[in-house]
Amino acid sequence: MAKKLFIETLGCAMNVRDSEHMIAELNQKEDYELTTQAREADLIVINTCSVREKPVHKLFSELGVFNKLKKESAKIGVTGCTASHLGEEIIKRAPYVNFVLGARNVSKITDVLHRDKAVETEINYDESEFAFKDFRTSPYKSFINISIGCDKQCTFCIVPHTRGEEISIPSNLIVDEARRSVARGAREIFLLGQNVNNYGRRFSGDHKTMNFTQLLREVSAVEGLERIRFTSPHPLHMDDAFIEEFAANPKICKSMHVPLQSGSTAILQKMKRGYSKEWFLNRIETLRSLAPHTFISTDIIVAFPGECDADFQETMEVVEEVKFDQIFSFKYSPRPHTEAEHFTDVVDSAVASERLTHLQKVQDAILDEKSRHYVGQRHRVYFEELRQDGYIAGRSHNNLAIRVKGGEELLGTFAEVEITQSARLSQIGAIVVA
Ligand code: 5AD
Ligand code: SF4
Repeated sequence: MAKKLFIETLGCAMNVRDSEHMIAELNQKEDYELTTQAREADLIVINTCSVREKPVHKLFSELGVFNKLKKESAKIGVTGCTASHLGEEIIKRAPYVNFVLGARNVSKITDVLHRDKAVETEINYDESEFAFKDFRTSPYKSFINISIGCDKQCTFCIVPHTRGEEISIPSNLIVDEARRSVARGAREIFLLGQNVNNYGRRFSGDHKTMNFTQLLREVSAVEGLERIRFTSPHPLHMDDAFIEEFAANPKICKSMHVPLQSGSTAILQKMKRGYSKEWFLNRIETLRSLAPHTFISTDIIVAFPGECDADFQETMEVVEEVKFDQIFSFKYSPRPHTEAEHFTDVVDSAVASERLTHLQKVQDAILDEKSRHYVGQRHRVYFEELRQDGYIAGRSHNNLAIRVKGGEELLGTFAEVEITQSARLSQIGAIVVA
């Protein structure tokens, strides 16, 4: 009988893809099947994120819970970014953990499974050409890695320490994966990298020169593929050619996540982001002038060390001017192995909370205003998710989450939908009958 695997995935889309890789390896080499019940599992894996402090604290309490409820013979593994940066310490603090497997070491999952107390956290381990077995969470859209690691040195960010140096995956492997996905029925792919538009700076073997814009052209030539999304581009590398390709290529979905982090040039410099407030605004303006209806989302960190009221005001100016379609906002959290961890001009935590609340309030008002205009709009929706409540949900080309009343027969299909009811981040509509 097949053994059972329970896997919990925290963090970003890269982690989702890493989990898929581990599920595939465990399924095809070790005969594991997925379960949603930790208590019946033979193997429990937590695929962790360490980008902020909170989830790391949560890990140990969660491990304790799993240890209590698991079957006696079941193993527990900790994988992902927190595994990379805490390594052996995890087993010291939670001795019942059977193995620790860092991000970008996931191909070793079937090996560490058989070595009790194994710790594999080599941060520059090269999996860029590893032929992973195949597993997809969704049959309708495929995540495809285009690079691993990150070469940037943003002073707040732990990722270069957990995911190592940046290596691009050869374009022929990416195109093959896109073709295989389409052959299996997916119409959409999601290209993933820490910094996608830095694609092509380094390959592990010989490879023809290629940048992200060229890669987008190659991938979009795959027949039967209808939608391409990607995350995340870095504002610094958003050159005109990239924005022009984004705007002109009909297969590229018109939504872009452009992480601002701060609207103050002085803070951006301290963060080592490599661009100014003006450059960011100029890129958004170019993007909007060439592709006016692009859904633009962003990440903002408030209360980075040294952020004074005037700096925060600059961030708010960008928020008011750009009117992002979605903002992921965070209070700065000092992370080990980063430069900013040693900065002493820490912002008072009450001030940080106030700034976060203010930013979120202003953004809510912006979204309320925006969503008033959504009613009556028509969008081509790709249905991907059947809900319990009689609705089926999908995304428009420009990333609006839209649901309509409907059943299973709509899964994996496209339909023209008119929005009838609108809320901040979720729209209700009806299929337009031709
Ligand atoms: N503190 C707060 N937020 C952070 N992020 C990354 N590092 C930190 C940190 N130390 C945020 C950034 C990034 C997103 C994934 O998480 O905004 O874009
Ligand atoms: Fe979290 Fe960053 Fe690692 Fe993704 S890459 S799992 S966001 S720390």
